[in-house]
Amino acid sequence: MADKVTLEKVVALCKRRGFIFQSSEIYGGLASTYDYGHYGVLLKNNVKAEWWRAVVQERDDMVALDAAILMHPRTWEASGHLEGFTDPLVQCLGECKKRWREDDLRTEQLGDEHAEGEIRCPECGGELSEPRQFNLMFETLMGPSEETGMKVYLRPETAQGIFVNFKNVLQSARKVPPFGIAQVGKAFRNEITPGNFIFRTREFEQMEIEFFVPPAEAPEWHQRWMEERMRWYTELGIRESRLQLRKHGPDELSHYSSATSDIEYEFPMGFSELEGIANRGDFDLKQHAEFSGEKLEYVDSGSGDRYVPHVIEPSAGADRATLAFMVDAYDEEEVEGRERVLLRLHPRLAPVKVAVLPLVNKDGQPEKAREIYEEVRGRMPAEFDNGGSIGKRYRRQDEIGTPWGVTVDHQTMEDDTVTLRDRDSLEQSRIAIAELGAELERRLAEPWMTPKVE
Ligand code: GAP
Repeated sequence: MADKVTLEKVVALCKRRGFIFQSSEIYGGLASTYDYGHYGVLLKNNVKAEWWRAVVQERDDMVALDAAILMHPRTWEASGHLEGFTDPLVQCLGECKKRWREDDLRTEQLGDEHAEGEIRCPECGGELSEPRQFNLMFETLMGPSEETGMKVYLRPETAQGIFVNFKNVLQSARKVPPFGIAQVGKAFRNEITPGNFIFRTREFEQMEIEFFVPPAEAPEWHQRWMEERMRWYTELGIRESRLQLRKHGPDELSHYSSATSDIEYEFPMGFSELEGIANRGDFDLKQHAEFSGEKLEYVDSGSGDRYVPHVIEPSAGADRATLAFMVDAYDEEEVEGRERVLLRLHPRLAPVKVAVLPLVNKDGQPEKAREIYEEVRGRMPAEFDNGGSIGKRYRRQDEIGTPWGVTVDHQTMEDDTVTLRDRDSLEQSRIAIAELGAELERRLAEPWMTPKVE
């Protein structure tokens, strides 16, 4: 059975159910920027919480950081971003005057980003300008006046906030390499060609780790982190058949990297990067040491040995991961002659874990359902809904990915039992209200695998 998901269907569901909206929509929207609505916030928060859980809470060798978005401008000189964080930009000289990435057009039109030969504007067929290197960093001024303000940048990656805090963390956290610093936060890039919904935007969130290791151990840790990060996606329900690890060729490597592999997910537009896992060597610490004059190294208190740790960097996008989880979860099926659209999200990622619904809006059922809802919401995110037909209410819960539904009916009023419906199998079982909370917690803690076919 072929996958029925398309990006258009996911975008439509996101709008319909209040996951994600176009930013500033009433003004016609701002290109490639998005706002998260209620369920989108809950889902993305769960993605980030699962990341924190896996990389910090369940490890002894990681500490957390939340660095400022605005950093000293010297940071970007040292990191190489001021000089080298550029994409080759060409502009249409024909009718449409649109701007494009030259390397993308060469790949699309000539099969390779370095291929020689003529490329034309894909929109109107016009001639293109000579390429110029376009820096992707957003600039702004810090200070009360344009004349005296200092030019600062919105960070294009969270990573540099970690490197400049290496010494602070080393001194305060009592860690010895191998250890890592983890951070989640916004990053900004003035992308020439953003697109594919929240896949590539100009403002996005990253979930980054800089893992500091003794130099000789770098290749081994690189390998371990690739495996670890692949496991994170599959444990949270992404089908293994839709993931691949792709090693960068020498001409693809960033200026700081000696080896990078991307975890790619098969989005509707094809396999695309979800997360990069780079071996950054000692590039960053050495650069910041040189530009700041501070020693950024590890000194063994026993032997007195000193070295600049090498860095393994698993760098993921929170928005991209959220999109991958939604795409992988999207499903349609026919049930009793009616189409059902649903998100088969891992229960730990689902924005709402359980919906409590009275079958009818009378005979004490809404009051009883509310009572149950108030008990379970202390244990997990829950929703009470008594508006509309039961079928419609279930369709709504299916579309937001709620794994369990509890229905209060006439029998509940007699024997204090409810039906518990499973989103994926549609199985209904009868359970005593007194056992409901514990049963839901048991189900939430269980491993889960998507029933979606390959
Ligand atoms: N510190 C390394 C770094 O920033 P990157 O490959 O440029 O590496 C890491 O970015 C991750 O951030 C990507 O794998 C992707 O998930 C996310 N990301 C990068 N640019 C993005 C954009 N314009 N929109 C959404 N996510 C983006």
